[in-house]
Amino acid sequence: MDRNPSAALAPFLPPRPRDALDRPLRDLRISVTDRCNFRCPYCMPRERFHEHYRFLKSSERLDFDEIVRLARLFMQLGAHKLRITGGEPLLRAGVAELIGDLTSLPGLDDIALTTNGVLLPQHAAELRAAGLQRVTVSLDSLDPDVFARMSGGLGSPEEVLAGIAAAQRAGLAPIKVNAVVQRGVNDHTVLPLLEHFRGTGITVRLIEFMDVGNRNEWQREQVVPSSELHALIHARWPLDCLQPNHVGEVAERHAYRDGAGEIGLISSITQPFCGDCSRARLSSEGVLYTCLFATQGLDLRGPLRAGASDDDLLAAIRRCWSARADRYSELRDRTVKSSAPRVEMNQVGG
Ligand SMILES: C[S@@+](CC[C@H](N)C(=O)[O-])C[C@H]1O[C@@H](n2cnc3c(N)ncnc32)[C@H](O)[C@@H]1O
Ligand code: SF4
Repeated sequence: MDRNPSAALAPFLPPRPRDALDRPLRDLRISVTDRCNFRCPYCMPRERFHEHYRFLKSSERLDFDEIVRLARLFMQLGAHKLRITGGEPLLRAGVAELIGDLTSLPGLDDIALTTNGVLLPQHAAELRAAGLQRVTVSLDSLDPDVFARMSGGLGSPEEVLAGIAAAQRAGLAPIKVNAVVQRGVNDHTVLPLLEHFRGTGITVRLIEFMDVGNRNEWQREQVVPSSELHALIHARWPLDCLQPNHVGEVAERHAYRDGAGEIGLISSITQPFCGDCSRARLSSEGVLYTCLFATQGLDLRGPLRAGASDDDLLAAIRRCWSARADRYSELRDRTVKSSAPRVEMNQVGG
């Protein structure tokens, strides 16, 4: 008799698709809102996302039942890690309830949330109680002026640190801090940021400024290559390279040799990691994107609201994933750029 429960269930699970480059579907990022309480110029510049910008109406966003239904289907196709993101996900009322529903889905291994942190003091405890395991908080600089420049003048480092402290008190762990590094903007504040978190158990991940969306005026000169940051940090606190925690991990891990913890370097510009990319992204209006740099996606809200069955939706997602050949970051410098607009970061999250 076969005592392995997953083997016993295997005949009933739909086959798991692999894309055109043989990559499985493992992660689903769910954006719950396209709105944000910050205006980071590298993501939602104030001049473009102004008071007359047409954000989604609540009826245009997937409701929580729709999100949970789709997440369940994605999980049947192999996704076992979920990340809730935005815009700013904590702006959407009831996110803790959504997390509670998602954590009850069979087969879920990991659920995380990415936030700018300022609403964590209000929500951290209820998120943890609902089953959220861990949180990633974005914090580009501890210098108040630099922070303001990178958040569009909204929020403050103190508010984000209060959010991180609330997450720690609530038992969310591990906590990661994301910092986008832009040359001439915050690169001179990277070492103080790292120093603040050394020895705390919080991993800071430094992200190369990316050409996401169509509105952030990206220029390659503003990208600080991870190799340059590594050299800077290594000269101050020697580092040793660590093995990835899992296949497809986006951050290259480095440990402080003196035992003060680790950092991550995310190098999607200088060392693209498309080859292992197993991430699907569901926008808040229910469009499936198979790449952060996609120019088109698959609308799932339409069929969902028109009464499609689970089998219909599974077939549509499977077709989309099987046809996926995206490797934008690897081809960035080699192909003529399409003039079609790319999806915006606030629609699909980071
Ligand atoms: C789009 S935000 C959504 C969640 C939340 N509002 C936050 O800021 O954490 C997710 C992540 O994407 C990162 N991000 C946004 N625009 C970026 C860009 N142009 N290049 C690199 N990272 C970017 C942010 O710094 C953040 O860590
Ligand atoms: S990075 Fe996050 S906090 Fe900043 S504008 Fe984008 S969604 Fe908002």
